[in-house]
Amino acid sequence: MTIDDVAARAASAFSTAYDDEPEGLWAAPGRVNLIGEHTDYNDGFVLPFALPERVVAAAGPAPEGWQVCSDFADGTVRFGEPELAEPGVLDGWAAYVAGVVWALRDAGFDVPPARIALASDVPVGAGVSSSAALESAVLTALVDLGKLDLPVGRRPAVAQRAENVYVGAPTGIMDQSASIRCQAGKALFLDCRSLAVEQIPFDVAAEGLAILVVNSNAPHQHVSGEYGARRTSCEEAARILGVPALRDVRTEELDGLLESLPDEVTRRRVRHVVTENQRVLDTVRLLRSGRIREIGPLMTASHASMRDDFEITVPEIDVAVEAALTAGAYGARMTGGGFGGCILALVDADGADAVAGAVAAAYERRGFTAPTPFVAVPGPGATRLPH
Ligand code: GLA
Repeated sequence: MTIDDVAARAASAFSTAYDDEPEGLWAAPGRVNLIGEHTDYNDGFVLPFALPERVVAAAGPAPEGWQVCSDFADGTVRFGEPELAEPGVLDGWAAYVAGVVWALRDAGFDVPPARIALASDVPVGAGVSSSAALESAVLTALVDLGKLDLPVGRRPAVAQRAENVYVGAPTGIMDQSASIRCQAGKALFLDCRSLAVEQIPFDVAAEGLAILVVNSNAPHQHVSGEYGARRTSCEEAARILGVPALRDVRTEELDGLLESLPDEVTRRRVRHVVTENQRVLDTVRLLRSGRIREIGPLMTASHASMRDDFEITVPEIDVAVEAALTAGAYGARMTGGGFGGCILALVDADGADAVAGAVAAAYERRGFTAPTPFVAVPGPGATRLPH
């Protein structure tokens, strides 16, 4: 589906629901993370890029309160003061919208009453941040509609608060940053402490390469509980080590410091985060000098670290990575929070089909549900669409 199709669906959902034309259309993408997993909430480094798939918000002013409908759920949800009085009053998908209104108001903004219709081609439940895309599209629309003075660099934190506080998911700042700050053809090198960004050229096609993403279609299980547990364990480790966050542990001092941790599991969690931060920095260094193929081994090492040290992979994910590597990928790893979702593999452009076929064949041998492969080209971040 093209962005024009999604935009047309959002516009038509708007006129059907509200018998009016939207004032504008705003789009925000899902993401895949090239490398740097579970480093964001440890004040570390990440390197996501935006998918071409986006959520489109068709929006316009309303006399009072907020109304939202979508092409992925029935009915129109209305909310106002009672639902915004405290986080969590609303649940389901509309909570992501109410959460953005709540977080903007909590940050001191006078949010304009609005009617919104959403359409999306970002796969849901695939670990490519469909919820951050939704939050970012709505946030961008409301900021423009209300002419709110909220610089782009501060927007991800507001969207993240919608998710952390209103929806109640303890995620880091990567996904909203990717959705809001990514640029086409680039990967976003983000320092999750200072929030400084560098747009890293990432034109794999120019090198005859492709990023193959494979949705494992594995059922997401225990995601929120396990995610929260990993986060708590990292914060606890930082406390024991006497550092503000695991970002502050240097690779050279890692081995010595690990001995002061109380148990093997905590040692493995810390080792993942510290080595993963280093892998992001190494990847950025290679990409800055155009050595794209050489990032492959770092991707594969990242996967091993997530599988063995952070323990966030599942059999479907490990089988996909193994099959992609055996079929000739330069590197492959799970992307996203874990326990399902997608892998990404760096492959020769003309070998992408063969690698995808090898993953599918491996799934068939194991009796897994068939995976869904697609080639990902870095797209633009949140923006107003011409209308
Ligand atoms: C999820 C979270 C992000 C990040 C990743 C893991 O996508 O939303 O904040 O922690 O997992 O890297």
